[in-house]
Amino acid sequence: MTQALKGKLALVTGASRGIGASIATRLARDGASVIVHYASNRARAEAVIKAIRDAGGEAEAVGADLSKAEGVTALIDSLNGVFGGKFEGRLDILVNNAGTVEYGPFLESSETSYDTHFNLNVRAPVELAKDAAQRMIKASWGRIINVGSAFGEAAPLPGVTLYIASKFAIRGFTRGLSRELGKYGVTVNAVQPGPIDTELAPQPGTEDHATMTRLASVGRFGKPEEIAAAVAYLASPEAGYTTGESLTVDGGWIA
Ligand SMILES: NC(=O)c1ccc[n+]([C@@H]2O[C@H](COP(=O)([O-])OP(=O)(O)OC[C@H]3O[C@@H](n4cnc5c(N)ncnc54)[C@H](OP(=O)(O)O)[C@@H]3O)[C@@H](O)[C@H]2O)c1
Repeated sequence: MTQALKGKLALVTGASRGIGASIATRLARDGASVIVHYASNRARAEAVIKAIRDAGGEAEAVGADLSKAEGVTALIDSLNGVFGGKFEGRLDILVNNAGTVEYGPFLESSETSYDTHFNLNVRAPVELAKDAAQRMIKASWGRIINVGSAFGEAAPLPGVTLYIASKFAIRGFTRGLSRELGKYGVTVNAVQPGPIDTELAPQPGTEDHATMTRLASVGRFGKPEEIAAAVAYLASPEAGYTTGESLTVDGGWIA
């Protein structure tokens, strides 16, 4: 255990399963006190927390639907009180991980598909970063890490056009915000996963899974822990000279 993040407070959105659960577990292993955010599945968030505590780490759950403005506000409002208020309003590490995708041809997409993608994948990270940045500027230290996608860098497959648009947006936001916060000791970066075995991605045994596997230079889907390792680096004190970067972790999927 490095404990490089001892004394830091981290918020990981969408941490009840998949990539977010791995990120929360990894940051806790590195010493951070972690807010395990979830949308509706409290039981799964509690399971993540139990595993973290059993390993000697610190974690608490907060639920909020980030596809709605009220949910974002509720999550922000909870920050001052977490861990008995011992962080006094500080937030050191924000990992904007919660996200969603709808598959299918753009010309057949629903009227609400734009909102589904952009409210959760873009608006919520933007609003959370706005609040977090003010807390981090006060402390003269902070790490904002957005979980984008290899689909934020390239479009290797059809059928995810609005998702691609939302992930390109988050990559642009990462770069723009890094320019504004660097002088305060706050870095802003993204990690862009390729296909990772979670409930969001095509499932093993399907044609989509086979196609996506073929595209990866390493010939397999990635593991959530492999994304968590990249986030852990960007969150660490030694990554202070890395900002505005979008690190693609995709097994060579878009190489
Ligand atoms: N898996 C991949 O292949 C892949 C590839 C590239 C990028 N990514 C990106 O990685 C991130 C995580 O993906 P994942 O595969 O780990 O997803 P996942 O397994 O589907 O998990 C999604 C997480 O987000 C939460 N969530 C869902 N809807 C929400 C809402 N309306 N408000 C707040 N939270 C919500 C879920 O909470 P509940 O459990 O409570 O529902 C869950 O914790 C996303 O940004 C995704 O775009 C994934």
